[in-house]
Amino acid sequence: MCSEPPTVYVSVRPVGRYSYRQLKESGEFVINIPSADLARVVDYCGNVSGGEVDKFKETGLTPVPAAHVRAPLIAECPVNVECRVKQVIPLGSHDAFIADVLAVHFNEDVLDERGRPDLDKIKPYGYCINEYRLVSGKLGFYGYSRKE
Ligand SMILES: Cc1cc2nc3c(=O)[nH]c(=O)nc-3n(C[C@H](O)[C@H](O)[C@H](O)COP(=O)(O)O)c2cc1C
Repeated sequence: MCSEPPTVYVSVRPVGRYSYRQLKESGEFVINIPSADLARVVDYCGNVSGGEVDKFKETGLTPVPAAHVRAPLIAECPVNVECRVKQVIPLGSHDAFIADVLAVHFNEDVLDERGRPDLDKIKPYGYCINEYRLVSGKLGFYGYSRKE
């Protein structure tokens, strides 16, 4: 949402979401960005509620203590973003939780030789029209359309 201060948001339904109450009460969360290899397990996590099953136990995912918030990082996810909520906007079906980014962690094995995140190693994917799709195939780079 904003680069300075780094700001992100998530939108969560107040109804039927175990995560909603935790978010509201703690004011903290972690965005754990999965690799494509984790798509099946993430789909499972998005189809069952923490009110009914222990998702860590069922999936074997590993919680790791965060540096600034009480919500855990997930070891298997190559990128973890620690967030603290600063504003909640009820929009209708969902509430938007706007949050400061407190820290971003990268697993070492997704960094290139200069220590920068490498998308080919992170293998992020997106959810669109009911399907999970890879974010792959470089099209250009920032500013490449400009005539010199
Ligand atoms: C790909 C995917 C994306 C989702 N995105 C959202 C979302 O943005 N907001 C939301 O409230 N629920 C979303 N859901 C649904 C919740 O993840 C789902 O209801 C989950 O079981 C809630 O778990 P909880 O009760 O432990 O919070 C999504 C599910 C999937 C599979």
